[in-house]
Amino acid sequence: MRVAVGADHGGYDLKVAVVAALVENGHDVLDLGAFDASPSDYPDFSLAVAEAVRSGRAERGVLVCGSGVGACVAANKVPGIRASTIHDTFSAHQGVEDDDLNVLCLGARVIGAQLALEVVRTFLGARFSGAERHRRRLDKVEAIEGRFARDEE
Ligand code: RB5
Repeated sequence: MRVAVGADHGGYDLKVAVVAALVENGHDVLDLGAFDASPSDYPDFSLAVAEAVRSGRAERGVLVCGSGVGACVAANKVPGIRASTIHDTFSAHQGVEDDDLNVLCLGARVIGAQLALEVVRTFLGARFSGAERHRRRLDKVEAIEGRFARDEE
């Protein structure tokens, strides 16, 4: 799978581990930075990863910051992005199966590297169920997005 990955300085070390694991597992990785651990701003990487997913350049995205929170808040501002901060394997697959999650956010200061890699593996291995009730709920989520987009025109 083509996966876009990004991190600020808080997530840099874990991003390096995530990229290495993805490559080792045969994924096509679009590494959108940061490329060192010097201070940076998480919205820059959220935007880059979110745009890659929205445009179809990547099927899924993984973002890492210190807590996983800021990167997630920023990514969700991009229409079509369904990002969540997740540190457990149950949510990593259920978020995709039920909510069609397309961007996973991790907090490098919260989760250990081994569990993080398992969460990433689980997220990428899951598929949206397509069940009618989940589509209906996603339609409502999109309607909220559309309503506020129109208000700002
Ligand atoms: C950076 O210090 C930190 O605020 C950032 O990585 C992230 O945790 C924000 O949510």
